[in-house]
Amino acid sequence: MQKIGEITSNNEVLIQTDVSLQAHNSLAVPAKAAYFSRCSSVPQLLGSLDFAKSNGLSVLVLGEGSNIVLSGDYDGMVVLNRLTGIELVSENSESVVVDVAAGENWHDFVGYALERAWFGLENLALIPGLVGAAPIQNIGAYGVEVKDSIEAVHVLDIESGQVRILSNSDCQFAYRDSIFKHALSAKYVITSVVFRLLKTAQLTLTYPALAANLTASACPIDVYNAVCQIRASKLPMPDDIPNAGSFFKNPVVDQDKHRQLTALFPSIVAFPLDGGSAKLAAAWLIEQCGWKDKSVDAVYVHRDQALVIVNPNFKSGNSILKMAAAIQADVKSTYDVVLEIEPRVY
Ligand code: FAD
Ligand code: EPU
Repeated sequence: MQKIGEITSNNEVLIQTDVSLQAHNSLAVPAKAAYFSRCSSVPQLLGSLDFAKSNGLSVLVLGEGSNIVLSGDYDGMVVLNRLTGIELVSENSESVVVDVAAGENWHDFVGYALERAWFGLENLALIPGLVGAAPIQNIGAYGVEVKDSIEAVHVLDIESGQVRILSNSDCQFAYRDSIFKHALSAKYVITSVVFRLLKTAQLTLTYPALAANLTASACPIDVYNAVCQIRASKLPMPDDIPNAGSFFKNPVVDQDKHRQLTALFPSIVAFPLDGGSAKLAAAWLIEQCGWKDKSVDAVYVHRDQALVIVNPNFKSGNSILKMAAAIQADVKSTYDVVLEIEPRVY
C-alpha cells in the first residue's frame, strides 16, 4: 500500500497520513487517522474517494465530529467534508426551497434562514455540527425534528462516485434515526441538503421550558433566542468540556411497560407517544441510578445533565465506552430498560 507523509492526489486534494483527530471529535479523544483529507470541492471529494478506493481504504466522512466516539485509531481514510454554498432553488408565496452544501455550519444556517424570514428551523438553533450530518440522525430539539424541513438529500456514492438524490421518504427518518444509520451506512457522502422553509412561521412551543418562557405573541426570533438560552443553561459546549451531547437515546417503551414502571417509580419522567407507547427521559433513569457527576477512569457524567458524558481529561474512546456500559448495565438491572448509544461509534 502507498504510505506517504503528504501527497497530492487527483484534483489537487492533499492527503495526509497519521493525522491526530483530537480536534476533529468533540469528545477530544486522542485518536489518529491513518489517512486524512479535507475537501472543499466536489472534485477534491472525488479525488479522495478515488485514492481510498485505489488503496483499499475504508472511508469515514466527518463534519465537526460532534456525534462520534472513536474507540481507537482509524486505519482507513477520514474525509472532512467542507463543501460550502447556499443556493435559493425556488420560491412561491408560501415557501422557499434552499440547497445547502454539507460543509455549512448548522447553527449559522439556522441564523441565515431566520434573517431572511425563512422559518421552520428556529427550535434547532445551537445544535453543534454541519448541515451534512443533520439528516444522519434526523437532528431534533425542543419539539422539532429536521425531517419536517428536508425536501431531499444529495449524495455521492463512495464506491462508484455516482451522484444520487434521495427524497425525504427515501431517507426513512425516525427519532434520532435514518437510512444513513442502517442500509446506507458508510455508503454515501452527503454533499448537500435541500430544505423547504416556510414564509409564514408556525411556531412549535410544545416543549415545557419554551412554553413557560414565551407567550402566544412570540415570533420565531423569540423562539430562537429562548432555545439558545435554554441550551446554554443546560448543555456543556464541547469547547468548554469535551462531550458529544446526549450519549444515549431516550428509550421508547410500550404501554404495559410504561404502566409497570409508573407503578414502581411514580416520579418517572416520560412523554406519551401516539399508540400508547412512551418515551422515557433517559437522563432521569441515569440520575436516579446515582450517576450524576460520577466518574469511571476519569470520564464523568455531567453534573447538570445526566445524559451527557464529559471527557475533561481527554481519555480514550474505550474509557468512555466503559463508562457507558456501566450505566447501561445499571439502568437495565434497575428498570429492565435498554439504553442505546446515540453517537456513532468507530
Ligand atoms: P459528525 O459527528 O462529524 O458525524 C456524525 C455522523 O454523521 C458520522 O457517522 C459521520 O460519518 C456522518 N456524517 C457526517 N457528515 C456526513 C456527510 N456529509 N456525509 C455522510 N455522512 C456524514 N443532536 C441532536 O439531534 N439534537 C441536539 O439537541 C443535539 N445537541 C447536541 C449538543 C452537544 C453539546 C453536542 C456535542 C452534540 C449535540 N447533538 C445533538 C449531536 C450533534 O450535534 C448532531 O448529531 C450533529 O448533526 C453532528 O454534526 P457533525 O457535523 O459534528 O457530525
Ligand atoms: N432530567 C433528569 N436529570 C437530568 C436531566 C434531565 O432527571 O440530569 C429529566 C428532567 O425531568 C427533564 C427530562 O429529563 O425534564 C428531559 O430532559 P431535557 O429536556 O434536558 O432533554 P433530554 O431528554 O435529556 C433531549 C435530546 C436532546 C435535546 C433536548 C431538547 C435525546 C437523546 N436528547 O434531551 O438532544 O437537545 O431533548 O429537546 O433525545 C442530543 O441528541 O445530543 C441532544 C442533546
